[in-house]
Amino acid sequence: MIETRDSMTKIIYIINGPNLNLLGTREPEIYGRSTLNDIEKECIKYSKNIGLNIIFKQSNIEGEIVNLIQKAGDLASGLIINPAAYTHTSVAIHDAIKTLTIPSIEIHLSQPAKRESFRNKSFVAEAVNGTISGFGLNSYLLAIKAIDDLLKT
Ligand code: DQA
Repeated sequence: MIETRDSMTKIIYIINGPNLNLLGTREPEIYGRSTLNDIEKECIKYSKNIGLNIIFKQSNIEGEIVNLIQKAGDLASGLIINPAAYTHTSVAIHDAIKTLTIPSIEIHLSQPAKRESFRNKSFVAEAVNGTISGFGLNSYLLAIKAIDDLLKT
């Protein structure tokens, strides 16, 4: 069956930005030891229990992330995005999220506000419904819960 926004089970896109494919070995003291694959599995497990369908993606390329956001706009009921370093630089990702009519949440494993000053600015925060950061893998699960709540209200 082809999934669309009208399907019984709602689709949530989770998009991950650059270098998140290296989770597990990338600065584990900051990002933890879970791999992106571990995170994807936990997201799918959690979402199944509350009746949501996850499409989980990662790209190191800004334009590909813009394409994925546009696809989420066509297919999904909600968007969760960890834009990684593009958080702090990307007008293109900001603009793509602004076109959406579905709820969107920005997430981070770490708490960027507590880190280097260049991480204090988020171009994405101005475009999304809300931001969850600093809870490691749990930031993803909290965002799924938040999207589910937004979809119910
Ligand atoms: C990050 C925080 C960003 O500042 C950083 O560039 C990342 C990961 C996080 O999940 O904590 O790559 O988005």
